[in-house]
Amino acid sequence: MRAHEAGALHGDIGNRGPAWLRPPQDVNALVPQLWPRTVRRAEAGAVEIGGVSVLDLAAEYGTPAYFLDEDDLRSRCRDFAAAFAGADVYYAGKSFLCKAVVKVINEEGLFLDVCSGGELAVALAAGFPAERMGFHGNNKSVSELTRALDAGVGRIILDSFQEIDRLTALARESGKRPKVLIRVTVGVEAHTHEFIATAHEDQKFGFSLAGGAAFEAAIRVLDEDVLDLHGLHSHIGSQIFDTSGFEVATRRVLELQAQIRDARGVELEELDLGGGFGIAYTTQDDPSPAGDLAKRINKIVDAECAAENLRRPRLSIEPGRAIVGPAVFTLYEVGTVKDVDGIRTYVSVDGGMSDNIRTALYDASYSATLAGRKSDAPPLLARVVGKHCESGDIVVKDEFLPADVQPGDLLAVPGTGAYCRSMASNYNHVPRPPVVAVRDGASRVIVRRETEDDLLALDVG
Ligand code: LLP
Repeated sequence: MRAHEAGALHGDIGNRGPAWLRPPQDVNALVPQLWPRTVRRAEAGAVEIGGVSVLDLAAEYGTPAYFLDEDDLRSRCRDFAAAFAGADVYYAGKSFLCKAVVKVINEEGLFLDVCSGGELAVALAAGFPAERMGFHGNNKSVSELTRALDAGVGRIILDSFQEIDRLTALARESGKRPKVLIRVTVGVEAHTHEFIATAHEDQKFGFSLAGGAAFEAAIRVLDEDVLDLHGLHSHIGSQIFDTSGFEVATRRVLELQAQIRDARGVELEELDLGGGFGIAYTTQDDPSPAGDLAKRINKIVDAECAAENLRRPRLSIEPGRAIVGPAVFTLYEVGTVKDVDGIRTYVSVDGGMSDNIRTALYDASYSATLAGRKSDAPPLLARVVGKHCESGDIVVKDEFLPADVQPGDLLAVPGTGAYCRSMASNYNHVPRPPVVAVRDGASRVIVRRETEDDLLALDVG
């Protein structure tokens, strides 16, 4: 028996994984909260998505590849739209953007948050109405601002005094009066990884509330009267489960709104509370359904408006991860299985940190399952790693896989819809995987696989 098969976990040597990780009762079971809604394991053993077997998908599209459950994506859009009825739901395109997804977002009636000229270009190419877009970023260039103005983007979220000046000048030149929001740094320590928390004082986004910059920015925009100050914005971070951060942020932003009213007699129309709603990557994560989030957030907004005697502004939110994250899994093929005696078993797959940097960058936890077949073998605690020249190239730190996992097996890693393809790289000149949408027994490529020719096409030396 290998040192790390389930039975050996309580021995003196060997990796035990995190304290919560337990050998599963059934290594073939798929925990529903981790998988896109149409995913099942067929009687014969292979995992299916949208009624199509991963065996067929791997044969047709190769591995690694991201498979998007289109019904799942649409149902999450609908869940948010229904739960936040009366609010504007902006899908945060940074989580994953391509023309097919833009079309889904449009068809489902959502709004769209873009944060670069590139995202704007993709959204426009897919025919998304500019007036239903918001444009974010702490360092938008003059060219990006100009394109946003020319396209008629619905609102621009201002992030610095220089940007106020830049956009004011551009608006004067063009004779346009764009709607803007002021991004407020509310001073909340969100309970998430430091790199994805965005509302504590010491960071690059927004205007500080505590230091008075947010108030000053609002007053400057109102007094210059070139830009149309529509509302205030706060985004406290990402992968957040606890709504108390939103509560504090809402209270502080609405206090600012009341100060602005008291100073200039203006009641701003919109309150944007950003995105950040967490999803399940492992069985330890317990995200709230959209309906529960909406109830809690609406309650907070009502209470704070009453406390400040404010007219209730129209609410906006900007979920990215919670809409697309759970709708996708990555399918890999196992290349090698290496038992490092007394330490752990490494299962190497044909992708890695180039298609999912989140484990290396944020110490993120993922799960995995043997996808191409069932197995009766006992669980083996394994680490799933990629093919890159770096020992930090880890996809799944700890997972129980059947002990007979072997080269040629397919492994699926769920929860990879957000910030995986969008943050993918060509490290080691590994071409980026395709994204394939699956629905009702049919599949189609929505982002094709990058090729070595694509890589060479950029290399003009
Ligand atoms: N709105 C604003 C202004 C944002 O900056 C973000 C994310 C969102 C909305 C969407 O947040 P979501 O609902 O997706 O959590 N690369 C990191 C996440 C960075 C998030 C950046 N901003 C990760 O992989 O976890």
